[in-house]
Amino acid sequence: MTAGMKGIPRNPGMDESGMTACRICGGQIEPFLSFGRMPLANGFLTADQFDQEYFFDLVAAFCPSCLMVQLVDQPDREKMFHAEYPFFSSTSRFQAAHFEKFANEVSDRWIGRNDPFVVEIGSNDGILLRHFAGAGIRHLGVEPSAGVASNARKNGVNTLSGFFEKDIARQIAAEYGPADVFLAANCLCHIPCFHSIAEGVDILLKPRGVVLFEDPYLGDILEKTSYDQIYDEHVFYFSVLSVNHAFGMHGMEIVDLWPQKTHGGSMRYCIARKGTHPVSPAVGVQIGRERELGLDRIETYERFRQNCETSQQNLRRILCDLKQQGRRVVGYAATSKSTTVTNYCDLTPDIVEFISDTTPIKQGKYSPGTHIPVQPYEKFAEAFPDYALLFGWNHKEEIMAKEQAFLNAGGKWIVYVPKVEVLA
Ligand code: SAH
Ligand code: TMP
Ligand code: ZN
Repeated sequence: MTAGMKGIPRNPGMDESGMTACRICGGQIEPFLSFGRMPLANGFLTADQFDQEYFFDLVAAFCPSCLMVQLVDQPDREKMFHAEYPFFSSTSRFQAAHFEKFANEVSDRWIGRNDPFVVEIGSNDGILLRHFAGAGIRHLGVEPSAGVASNARKNGVNTLSGFFEKDIARQIAAEYGPADVFLAANCLCHIPCFHSIAEGVDILLKPRGVVLFEDPYLGDILEKTSYDQIYDEHVFYFSVLSVNHAFGMHGMEIVDLWPQKTHGGSMRYCIARKGTHPVSPAVGVQIGRERELGLDRIETYERFRQNCETSQQNLRRILCDLKQQGRRVVGYAATSKSTTVTNYCDLTPDIVEFISDTTPIKQGKYSPGTHIPVQPYEKFAEAFPDYALLFGWNHKEEIMAKEQAFLNAGGKWIVYVPKVEVLA
């Protein structure tokens, strides 16, 4: 493998010896969990597309050198993020409230009064930036998926179509000037070319500017056995240890962090150029916890794999028993994560009758790989099933609060995170 500037690997992927190289440090990564052939998590499809469906090997690996957990292979980005990308951030009211609060915090603490400029990558339908747009703050979203981006523009959000990387950062800096804040929510973990992003950040940010980003947190994934966070779009599974190392390669560091409840447990990080901001004690505390939890050791990931296998067997056992008893089971929310569960646990339409989902673009289609029909929510409500399998477990609070009628009708929830159980 050829080393780039500052020892940064230029061509992550296989090195000359055929070993798999870390996307961050170029070291040799150790695969610890293979899901076998998997479809695209958001590849909801019509029946006439079944025979051209795309599959790839979904394998998670750990880098013992820089501690980054990552996928061995990721499909081409254009296959995942395009005009029909069906994930619209604003379908969840809780997420909308979460991002409104985030926008207020950014405004209050991280941007000055002197004509600030805010950039967000993966801005989707404008769920976060609309608050800056509404306040008349200069902003720009960078979003490659044209369908969701068009909704953002309808929300008054200034949006550039494209995949953010170093070259786009140069264009933005030339057109708008430097940015005070660089935002990303559930986006950095999707982008394999981390170093191009970090270089782009360095080009764009003012000297004391900060990156505020949040992504699902590896500590939560391990603790809750939420293996369904592992799918094509998520190329990285971040910890404080690995994030600090990766940004450290570019002269930056984590200066603060805040755990979040979103997506089943996330971490928000504040990154700045080294020495420009004081480092909060919370960073060292979390690093200590991660070492105690063993996030820096391959044995921890091997134990995780065993927990995943147990979870898979338990879920299949419950569902097969219910099928034998002639009970109706319906999936609730066709989340990206559900694709990993349905395929890993081999959940076919004879086991899960359909999946109820509120997103119009998913309705009438079939789930990737196992081809369970996706139906509008009304189909769920008009004849409640005996059991609802909660694929949207990360929206549990929001969903439970509005589904009292299902329980009153004798319905029961099946959950699989943090453990497989039927809720009484
Ligand atoms: N920020 C939103 C959306 C997360 S989904 C939220 O938290 O709900 C991830 C988004 O990142 C998608 O809309 C996808 O199109 C976008 N994306 C993927 N690669 C990207 C890249 N290189 N640059 C900018 N956006 C990207
Ligand atoms: P996510 O977990 O990846 O955010 O995906 C959310 C999906 O769940 C999206 O397709 C919409 C769907 N959903 C419902 O169908 N009903 C609900 O009440 C909620 C909150 C989400
Ligand atoms: Zn590495």
